Amino acid sequence: MTARQIIIDTDPGQDDAVAILFALACPEALEVLGLTCVAGNVPLAMTTRNARKICELAGRSDLPVFAGCDRPLGRALITAEHVHGRSGLDGPDLPEPTMPLQDRHSVEFLIDTLRTRPSGTVTLVPIGPLTNIATAFQRAPDIIPRVQEIVLMGGAHAAHGNVTPAAEFNIHVDPEAAACVMASGAPITMLPLDVTHKALVTPSRNAAFHALGTPVGAAVGALTGFYERYHPERHGRDGAPLHDPCTIGWLLRPDLFTARRVNVEIETGSELTMGMTVVDWWGVTKRPANATFVHDIRAQDFFDLLTERLSRL
Ligand code: RIB
Ligand code: CA
Repeated sequence: MTARQIIIDTDPGQDDAVAILFALACPEALEVLGLTCVAGNVPLAMTTRNARKICELAGRSDLPVFAGCDRPLGRALITAEHVHGRSGLDGPDLPEPTMPLQDRHSVEFLIDTLRTRPSGTVTLVPIGPLTNIATAFQRAPDIIPRVQEIVLMGGAHAAHGNVTPAAEFNIHVDPEAAACVMASGAPITMLPLDVTHKALVTPSRNAAFHALGTPVGAAVGALTGFYERYHPERHGRDGAPLHDPCTIGWLLRPDLFTARRVNVEIETGSELTMGMTVVDWWGVTKRPANATFVHDIRAQDFFDLLTERLSRL
């Protein structure tokens, strides 16, 4: 079986870091063509720095890392240092990266890669705001039918929003970009808070990372340990949700998840509900389904898979 070719579009962030390490630990199943960075959890200069720190931690200073959009399509950037720390990667003490950033912009790399590789062979894995993806689609609509699948972390239905009562962070930061992607016609799989809030880093799961006894294990333990201090009242003692690695889990073992084909629209008008993913769970609008909406996970099997794969790095 040839490895699936993916581009991870990312705003590292502790959970992005774990997702990238997870993917890099599975070269037999996933060929990571590059990391396209976007502003989100922290400003672009920090997300590109953090992405390279993660590559070097994984021994992959050869992996191309690109800088992308430094702000949303049509509004000011909202960041999340209160969640991820000033660096965006608080927790472990990782050395400054020495590998270079690529000269090309993330959007150029997305367009060039989708145009030059055979149609239907590249999967996009956005785990931050969708600004780069939407910009690429708007600048080069010809690439849209060439996308194999978009597997994105974002949105919420029955789960409450995590940045407003209605909206999840990745969608809220750039709702116009999300609306563009959802309307694109590309095959989309969404991993929203409905599923990621069931992937909690409990103390025993965090201990299993540390028990790997490797620099990657220690770093992942520190990354997820830092993140869990955020909003303990939301998830109690069970620890914090591990959002972005759920996308990689889906790519590797979709059988660990439960999903439903639905129509999803994005609120871009009301400031009250800006960035809400309006999920037509019962099909009442008769709007065509445009997303595979993942809403459940076999969490312990997922963490067992993640921990075993990380042991390879
Ligand atoms: O709402 C969770 C998402 O927002 C994750 O991708 C996290 O990294 C932040 O970007
Ligand atoms: Ca992210």
